[in-house]
Amino acid sequence: MERARPLLIFDSGVGGLSVLREIRMLLPSAPIVYAADSAGFPYGTKSPAEVAARVPALLGRLAERYDPALIVIACNTASTIALDAVRAALDLPIVGTVPAIKPAAALSKTRVIGVLGTAATIVQPYVDRLAAEFAADCTVIRHGSAELVELAEAKLRGEAPEPAAYARILDGLLSKGEGERIDTVVLACTHFPLVEEELATAAPRPLAFVDGNAGIARRTQWLTRDLAWPEAAQEGIAMFTGGIDTEPYRAPLADFGLTRIEKL
Ligand code: DGL
Repeated sequence: MERARPLLIFDSGVGGLSVLREIRMLLPSAPIVYAADSAGFPYGTKSPAEVAARVPALLGRLAERYDPALIVIACNTASTIALDAVRAALDLPIVGTVPAIKPAAALSKTRVIGVLGTAATIVQPYVDRLAAEFAADCTVIRHGSAELVELAEAKLRGEAPEPAAYARILDGLLSKGEGERIDTVVLACTHFPLVEEELATAAPRPLAFVDGNAGIARRTQWLTRDLAWPEAAQEGIAMFTGGIDTEPYRAPLADFGLTRIEKL
């Protein structure tokens, strides 16, 4: 049988692992290449122009190198800025990640929703459109945090955070405008589901945290429904574009089935 082409899952860092986790549940033996643009990390503090210039070109290189069956842009920042450009440039199915405002609006009782993302994501017109289309009767309060992205990376490397960090970040959202009425928080950055437990523990009251990862996995499964996957999972690849010591990531990546580390 012909060798199955992999799914390429892309993020600036390790946030896309929260998406990979869901994909693995539906497609346990699909070959995986997880690509982290560590040399470009973080995206959330970059200008839209920088992200727009970087992501399509990099994905073009990765598509050539790994010949994936499909690409998942497992990053809200890259998706809200560059999804259309990537789709135009590559002749492959591309699944994007956008803030889960629609399910959050379906869930919220107070009709006040928080959107926790990167500084770059929360100001995107894409988010305005999602809010207008799916949460027109809700107040949508946005908060950007680069620190939370760093905390998720640090957690994966096994580093303990400063104890008050999560409560302080949440307070940045909950203390804004009508923030005291927020009952549902969109985790609009793929790094954030990796620290959802810590956020829930630090929250001053019960909050529902919502992300779109299960939907991305279902979409990936649907778009690849005609492909034949291997009988058993093979060695997954984690590819880094450089700029970091990958050693602290080795063991946690292996927990996600990514046992081979490559550099660009
Ligand atoms: N994981 C990315 C996202 O979903 C962003 C992290 C970063 O700032 O690079 O937005």
